[in-house]
Amino acid sequence: MILSIPKEIVPGERRVAATPDSVRRLLKKGFEIQVESDAGLAATFTNRDYELAGAKMISDPESLFSNTDVILKVQGPAFNAALEKDECDLMREGTVLIGLLQPLTALATMKRLAQKKITAFAMELMPRITRAQRMDVLSAMSSLAGYKAVLLAAAAFGRIFPMMSTAAGTLYPAKVLVLGAGVAGLQAIATAKRLGAVVEAFDVRRAAKEEVESLGATFVSLELTPEEGEGTGGYAKALSEASHQKELALIHAHVKAADIVITTALIPGKKAPVLITAEALKAMKRGSVIVDMAAETGGNCSETRVGQTVSVEGVMLIGAVNLAASIPVDASQMYANNLTHFLNHLCPELTLMVNPKDEITQGTLVTHEGVIVHERVKAAVEASESTKGRA
Ligand code: NAI
Repeated sequence: MILSIPKEIVPGERRVAATPDSVRRLLKKGFEIQVESDAGLAATFTNRDYELAGAKMISDPESLFSNTDVILKVQGPAFNAALEKDECDLMREGTVLIGLLQPLTALATMKRLAQKKITAFAMELMPRITRAQRMDVLSAMSSLAGYKAVLLAAAAFGRIFPMMSTAAGTLYPAKVLVLGAGVAGLQAIATAKRLGAVVEAFDVRRAAKEEVESLGATFVSLELTPEEGEGTGGYAKALSEASHQKELALIHAHVKAADIVITTALIPGKKAPVLITAEALKAMKRGSVIVDMAAETGGNCSETRVGQTVSVEGVMLIGAVNLAASIPVDASQMYANNLTHFLNHLCPELTLMVNPKDEITQGTLVTHEGVIVHERVKAAVEASESTKGRA
């Protein structure tokens, strides 16, 4: 079975789907590996590193895409300007594609993959179950991104994080507020604590309190009824309008006192909840910094601009995107490990087992044998087509 690793072509993407180390492990398992020339360079892995690991280097992407059984990617298929072709059209029928395919938003691509009879697995749909932890790409990338968000904030802040008593006077510690204490939020809390800040965090899930406190931060509590906030699978669910208003008032009071705010609130499948209104933003101190990690799903701050840093009344607002790509070495290593575990799961005997009853396969398989098989993706495609039909 041949596995191929192309060079990522989406601008700003510096990760690669296999490292020399993961190549070694996959070869040992019995796979053949082809890597496109320079695929790992942005993550510091040279062609020589891959060759020494045992991979075959291929300089022509068309040949790599068309002569393989499985393609391992970071980003979903994109238009290759040099070839003037979409990556979807470089693959031959029956190829298996594994990557972060954005299945719920890149709907035209999902349709195209189905038409091309590609068996496509979207890693972001990995169910958050114990058995799948080692394949949970979103958690791996969120941990790195939560760390990086704090570093971005620290670099943009005109003060330091820790308390410092010097002969030239005493500097008081920065106050960091983290909104949403899931994977990214907990890593942001831990990083801000390590840098010496005074940290508080807010989440609608009661279970988050213990985790926040175990990291030495203060938990900001909102009175909610027992059934509110807590969704299934460790995720949150949207609050009622009345509770959301209470939440906004609570956050308003806390952002006023904060120097740094890192926002990470997410409700799966929904637009990010707005937690910092324009009014709350205006109440913040000049010189404070917000890193909105939910920028790509609409933003936790109403004034966020995706991928941009804007200054609003002296507050720097960073609409962070793809932070994991800015730590390409570690991010590639973690991503490649996730994919290796996933391949071991899918191909126990070096042949692909598409078992629709398996929760991991069912959760991640988007297109197979010419159709979109994933229920949520199918529903999203149908909804977009009916909207287009009405227009
Ligand atoms: P997660 O699901 O582990 O955590 C989200 C947290 O938000 C949960 O603890 C949930 O209870 C909380 N939450 C939901 N609604 C809330 C509300 N109204 N108020 C307070 N808390 C609320 O998700 P994860 O993996 O930590 O990702 C967090 C966000 O960061 C997501 O929007 C994700 O897309 C984004 N992200 C952004 C990256 C970037 O480069 N900008 C990279 C990785 C993740």
